[in-house]
Amino acid sequence: MTDTRAILATKRDGGELSEGQIRDFINGYVEGTIPDYMAAALLTGIFIHGMGDAELECWTRAMLHSGSTFDFSDLDKPKADKHSTGGVGDKVSIPLAPAVAACGVAVPMISGRGLAHTGGTLDKLEAIPGFRTDLDEAAFRRCLANTGVAFGAQTPDIVPADRKLYALRDVTGLVASIPLIASSILSKKLAEGIDALVLDVKFGSGAFLTDPERGAELGRTMIRIASSLGVPAVVWQTSMERPLGHAVGHVTEIAESLDCLRGAGPDDLRELVVLLGGEMLSLAGQEPNLAAGRERIAGVLDDGSALEVFRRVVTEQGGDAASLDDPGAFLPGPDEDVLVAAKAGRLVFRDVQAVGHALCALGGGRARLEDAVDPEVALTFEAQAGQQLAAGDPICRIHHRAGRGLERARALLGEACHTDPDAAAPAPLVMGSMAAPAPS
Ligand code: URA
Repeated sequence: MTDTRAILATKRDGGELSEGQIRDFINGYVEGTIPDYMAAALLTGIFIHGMGDAELECWTRAMLHSGSTFDFSDLDKPKADKHSTGGVGDKVSIPLAPAVAACGVAVPMISGRGLAHTGGTLDKLEAIPGFRTDLDEAAFRRCLANTGVAFGAQTPDIVPADRKLYALRDVTGLVASIPLIASSILSKKLAEGIDALVLDVKFGSGAFLTDPERGAELGRTMIRIASSLGVPAVVWQTSMERPLGHAVGHVTEIAESLDCLRGAGPDDLRELVVLLGGEMLSLAGQEPNLAAGRERIAGVLDDGSALEVFRRVVTEQGGDAASLDDPGAFLPGPDEDVLVAAKAGRLVFRDVQAVGHALCALGGGRARLEDAVDPEVALTFEAQAGQQLAAGDPICRIHHRAGRGLERARALLGEACHTDPDAAAPAPLVMGSMAAPAPS
């Protein structure tokens, strides 16, 4: 049995942990024989000194195998998933998963809930009447087999090490560490039993890591670790220097996702769905290259087959598929206020996190996982980043509930964006990609 104090001392002094030490530590922590204060000491050592590649691979593998993992090898198609590091208005997964499935690649998607300024895919899907995300393993498997997609939540059996470690990092200020983020994301995604993984690493003021260089380092780390664990991964770095799409808020984000599934929708949302979906098809071997993958995804959005898959997923997960065709089903609440441009100029977002916080102030987000969200409050942007506006032009409609949080939301939106006659055009939505070097 490894001496836990020796493990802590090794990391405190900047050394590398052995495979045995890592396994003993993760198992002991999950079983409860290693207390939180010892785990916090180790995480602090990792936060300060980082981890070597071999060490991080062992750490991620130990987390991955700390609970049960899915095995969909009986499903006779490639399996792939996408993960985004999160942002404001990021509803890409909702149209992307059915579009990829319509092209023959299964998407077993375990998603999270919204926390702080970012929204969660599960909360957004639950804005569809009846839609259930608390699938047990049998229901998840059935949905995936019948439709090619399943949207589920992390259960207590999947990567329990991450549940405990993430909660501890959250309360001890130890979230923003590249090895800890990489192992947390990859252990959960690789537990889905996928053959390929596309990662959307956000940068900009609405992102979790605002600096693109830190995002690139996280991307390179995740690619190395995923490939050493046998799953090819590609990273795209995309901008959160503006909210994605026009809609921020649950029902409105479902409406916008449906627009995308009908071949329309805002350009930036479609661009990311086509790009990331095309990459999933190419990486999973379903299409020979990214260009062919993109063309295929654009085709299934335009011809209605992606929407048809989504309809089946909604039905399979207990939702009311007829609501998808009801023009009144996904409208925000009736109380509305408007934020207008104070002066003429280009619309500039200087703090996209504040947009997310404004939605939270209205009741559309949560500070703690147990908080309820109001799906009908929303922010609808009438103008996009870089657009020239005259004084008094509308920037954003604020859909509130009887004034709850309205004043705070208006103040936050005032911090989030303004108009500036001298502002430069915004940076492009997509910065670039990274992949593992081809084997020599
Ligand atoms: N998302 C995760 O799943 N884990 C992290 O550590 C950070 C973001």
